[in-house]
Amino acid sequence: MNVSEAIRTKRAIRKFQDKPLPDEVIHIILNAGRRSQSSKNEQAWHFIAIRDKAILEALSKCGTYAGHLAGAALAVAILTPDPTAKFQTLFDAGQAAAFMQLAAWELGVGSVPASIYEGEKAREILGFPPEWHLRMALSFGYPLEEEKLSATPKKGGRRSLEEIVHWDTW
Ligand SMILES: Cc1cc2nc3c(=O)[nH]c(=O)nc-3n(C[C@H](O)[C@H](O)[C@H](O)COP(=O)(O)O)c2cc1C
Repeated sequence: MNVSEAIRTKRAIRKFQDKPLPDEVIHIILNAGRRSQSSKNEQAWHFIAIRDKAILEALSKCGTYAGHLAGAALAVAILTPDPTAKFQTLFDAGQAAAFMQLAAWELGVGSVPASIYEGEKAREILGFPPEWHLRMALSFGYPLEEEKLSATPKKGGRRSLEEIVHWDTW
């Protein structure tokens, strides 16, 4: 699978098989996040890789739409410096997230973000220090519906280029 194909076919996967990811696969996913670009190459992030079921379950209660974390084989919490102090930090986290998700997809591993609305509750669960913040975690796992990996993208699933691209000026 090349990069364009991965971008074209990747879908959000929220239901996972009850099957662990091999260590090698987890390493490839985390390494893709490590390699991604960041503002001034500061790499101002920490990743907490979570496989413990009780921790996944607790974290799944830190966001309105974070329930899928409970069924993931792996979650990666992407910690950033205070996003209200420097807007680039969330952009950086998004870059790392996208790289990890695309690397996973190439290996047949599905994923989806979980917005963390209750960051302080997540801090208690994961024990990270005050200077780090959590707004986004990713669920990973082998898709329960394996056919989703090779499904043709839904028509109308994305807005057309004509609708969103402006040339030279708005
Ligand atoms: C910044 C961001 C936050 C998201 N937060 C959640 C979330 O909290 N829960 C969830 O189930 N999906 C979440 N998603 C996944 C989106 O709903 C999903 O990517 C979108 O609907 C497109 O899905 P598709 O690629 O399958 O078409 C998030 C995606 C992004 C980029």
